[in-house]
Amino acid sequence: MTAAVIDGKAFAATLRARIADLAAAFELQAGRKAGLAVVLVGEDPASQVYVRSKGKSTIEAGMASFEHKLPADTAEADLLALVDRLNADPAVDGILVQLPLPRHIDEQKVIAAINPDKDVDGFHVTNAGRLAVGQPGFVPCTPLGCLMLLKDRLGDLSGLDAVVIGRSNIVGKPMAQLLIGESCTVTVAHSRTRNLADVVRRADIVVAAVGRPEMVKGDWIKPGATVIDVGINRVPGAAEGKTRLVGDVDYASAAAVASAITPVPGGVGPMTIAVLLRNALVAAWRNAGLELPADAI
Ligand code: GUN
Repeated sequence: MTAAVIDGKAFAATLRARIADLAAAFELQAGRKAGLAVVLVGEDPASQVYVRSKGKSTIEAGMASFEHKLPADTAEADLLALVDRLNADPAVDGILVQLPLPRHIDEQKVIAAINPDKDVDGFHVTNAGRLAVGQPGFVPCTPLGCLMLLKDRLGDLSGLDAVVIGRSNIVGKPMAQLLIGESCTVTVAHSRTRNLADVVRRADIVVAAVGRPEMVKGDWIKPGATVIDVGINRVPGAAEGKTRLVGDVDYASAAAVASAITPVPGGVGPMTIAVLLRNALVAAWRNAGLELPADAI
């Protein structure tokens, strides 16, 4: 048996089209575009690519994009002052400060300065707390995208055994909270977990978010399980000087056992920006005091 391929790229494109419709409806009702501000400090090449891509997707969705590029030696106080201005700006519904920040800036302090109702990354402790207790807030984009793919594939997740590999604040922990919210039985595994293969073998749902290339092997997967691979790892390619992208899951061996699996690239990756736009649009409707059509996105 070969697993069905979960096409995150196609799902994300459908989601972006729905967002564009709702962004147009928002503009009609609010008399302004929904706005997303993205702040980049320094010149990290990967971050520059992400920020450019976020800006382009925001405009394509019919929303306003505000890009703030600051030099790598920007003082923490100046970044905090910019966040304050964006908090106060009524044209800005969502604020994203691209991570990682240069070492002289305290990331937690910057995240704490963002108005939680504009925190479309869902990184503020207020939003982490809201997620934990089941109140409406913002959920980090990557795990929310993973949940959308899982629900699209499996429907009701209630009672399923889920294993999340990785315990980061950005993916692992919020993923576990979301799956608890769907009434899964959730295990969070990490670098100190004993007998990881045996733990993973119990799972109907495996979410791998460890950042270790092809660590999860096919013989760790329960036959028929659904596998979500969050990893994006660059490894040496077949040809000299070339690289290729692989996930945290050994795709070929896992696809022989699983019932469905996300590829890398083209699985979880494209979902992250689509969910960011979704969060920004939800922020806009809420911040404008308007009613978002029920179950719209
Ligand atoms: N760096 C890598 N991924 C992300 C993300 O989702 N949000 C932010 N703010 N920075 C990132």
